[in-house]
Amino acid sequence: MKKVGILAGREVTFPESMIASINEKGGGKVTAEMITVGGIREDEPKRYDVIIDRISHEVPYYRAMLKRMALEGTYIINNPFWWSADDKFFNFSLAKKIGVAVPKTVLLPQQSYIKDITSESLRNLEFPLNWKEIVDYIGFPAFLKPHDGGGWKNVSKLHSEEDLLREYNDSGTLCMTLQQGIEYDQFVRCYCVGKEKVLIMPYDPSKAYLSGMQYVNIENYLSPELHARVERDVITLCTALGYDLNTVEFAIKDNIPYAIDFMNPAPDAELASVGEFNHRWIVDNMTDFILKKLEKGFDQPEYRWTGMLNRA
Ligand SMILES: Nc1ncnc2c1ncn2[C@@H]1O[C@H](COP(=O)(O)OP(=O)(O)OP(=O)(O)O)[C@@H](O)[C@H]1O
Ligand SMILES: [Mg+2]
Repeated sequence: MKKVGILAGREVTFPESMIASINEKGGGKVTAEMITVGGIREDEPKRYDVIIDRISHEVPYYRAMLKRMALEGTYIINNPFWWSADDKFFNFSLAKKIGVAVPKTVLLPQQSYIKDITSESLRNLEFPLNWKEIVDYIGFPAFLKPHDGGGWKNVSKLHSEEDLLREYNDSGTLCMTLQQGIEYDQFVRCYCVGKEKVLIMPYDPSKAYLSGMQYVNIENYLSPELHARVERDVITLCTALGYDLNTVEFAIKDNIPYAIDFMNPAPDAELASVGEFNHRWIVDNMTDFILKKLEKGFDQPEYRWTGMLNRA
């Protein structure tokens, strides 16, 4: 019997639906359940074949626990090692190199630092920062947002240098990026499963976050050409980043889809937020992906230590 475990935060319907769906389609050969963990031994045996991780970005103990489980051969969705290493600024830069349009983006030194970091600690840092050069490159409107964030936290839209100064001064120890604001004609958010299945969802970011009003049902929202390009870009990005589950957001201006957010390895999939159709799509496609891979074998990520394991 193969076992799938779910690690979740406050969300309810996605884990419940995944468990029901895997148990139903698993045909008695695969079961799914919420996992329970406590103190983890350094020689902890394998307990699960697959874990769907929805919350380790907020709970460092979970992230460390998942890395330990990966060492035992548990396949974690998404890879906790890469997720720990990844950040959104790296991703924008990578996207540009692999042919996906992104807004102009600048990584900024933090506004402030933890207690023991003084000006002597920061001798490599240009001071004062050349704000003029940065602002000339990005222009307004712009977005100031964490280089590694989520949930719309600490994201602000700026219209002027005064806005920038105020928001940057408020950003504290967070590492921020300044990004060209795309005054979009259309906006989509796309689920991607297994680096191959894509659902393009028309999305209205002007509605309140997680309100259930953001996902709008508009048929043939994108022209066939744009639809094909968005689908291709989603697969390119998710393949490059190696995420088995992700969402990619595009702000579309003059027929160019600019990828503005594509590091969402635990994307929102709650029924009340994404709606019945999208919820069903992600549950069905995740179930099929996991069941197929459990049968045929997952593509295991390569680590330098793998060649040293199981030596006599
Ligand atoms: N460059 C941009 N141009 C236009 N709109 C943007 C841009 N960057 C961010 N936004 C708007 O701000 C919202 C939040 O930004 P972003 O998605 O980068 O933050 P997040 O915290 O990662 O959100 P999520 O919870 O969706 O992962 C976007 O959905 C979009 O509406
Ligand atoms: Mg986003």
